[in-house]
Amino acid sequence: MTMKTPVLQMKGVTKSFGGLRALIDVDLELYPDEILAIVGDNGAGKSTLIKVLTGIYQADSGTTELNGQPANIKSRQDSLEVGIATVYQDLGLVDTLSAAPNIFLGDEPKKKILGLPFIDNEKMRRDAEEILHTKVGVALPNPDEPIRDYSGGQRQAVAIARAVRANDIHVLVMDEPTAALGPEETKNTLELIKTVRGRGTPIILISHNLDHVFSVADRVQVMRGGMRAGVVEAAKSNKQEVLGLIVGSELQEAS
Ligand SMILES: Nc1ncnc2c1ncn2[C@@H]1O[C@H](COP(=O)(O)OP(=O)(O)O)[C@@H](O)[C@H]1O
Ligand SMILES: [Mg+2]
Repeated sequence: MTMKTPVLQMKGVTKSFGGLRALIDVDLELYPDEILAIVGDNGAGKSTLIKVLTGIYQADSGTTELNGQPANIKSRQDSLEVGIATVYQDLGLVDTLSAAPNIFLGDEPKKKILGLPFIDNEKMRRDAEEILHTKVGVALPNPDEPIRDYSGGQRQAVAIARAVRANDIHVLVMDEPTAALGPEETKNTLELIKTVRGRGTPIILISHNLDHVFSVADRVQVMRGGMRAGVVEAAKSNKQEVLGLIVGSELQEAS
C-alpha cells in the first residue's frame, strides 16, 4: 500500500432518503496522481457518494478532508471552491460555440474599451489553447469551429479543460465518461483520462465497464448495497475478483 497522504479522504459517510439507507458508513481515499474507479451495481450508492462529495446532497454524518484539512461542502459552489471539479455524462457544452468560449463559459476574460467591459476573445483563445495543451495534452485542429463538429473525444477534451481550468483543482470527478461513446472515441477518452492524471490531477472515475476500469484505474473501490464492499489495486486484481465484490459472492471458476 502507498504511504502517501490522500488528497481526498471521506470518512464514515452515511446518507438516507426516508427509510432507504443509500450510504452506510462509507470511506473513500484518493491519493495524488491516481485514478480511482468506483464501481457497483445500479443502486449501490455510487452517484449518491459523488453527490455528497460535490455538495449536491448533504450527508447525515461523515466527514470530507482535502489535503488533510476538513472541507465543509454544503453546495456545488462549495465543492468547486475547495477544488473538486466534475465532468458530467452530458458534458454540458454549448454546441454552437467553439472550444474557448465553452471552456470559459460564464467566466470569460474581460478587457475594457472606452471604460466598457468586453470579452477579451484573443486572451480567451490563447488561455484555452494553453489549458488544453498543459492540462489535457491535446491541440484542437480548428479552434474556431463550433464544437458540434467535434468528435466525441474532442468534446470530452473541451469538457475536461473547462473542469480543470482553475489552478487549484485537486480532484476531477468523471461520471460514466465512456457510456455513450463508440469504440474509437472510448479509446481516445481513456487515453485523455490517463493524460490528465499524468499532468497532475487525480481522478475519480465512475464506470460500470470493467474493461474500461482495468485499462485506466490504479485502484478500484467497489460499492454494494450502500457500503464499501472492497478496494483493490488494479494491477494486483482482475475483473473476476471485482465482479465477486460487486455481486457479493465468490463467482464460480470461469476463465
Ligand atoms: N434523491 C433520491 N431520493 C430517494 N432515493 C434516492 C435518491 N437518490 C438515490 N436514491 C436511492 O439511493 C440508492 C443508491 O442510489 P445511487 O447512488 O443512485 O446508486 P448508483 O449510482 O450506484 O446506481 C438507490 O436505492 C436509489 O434509489
Ligand atoms: Mg448512478
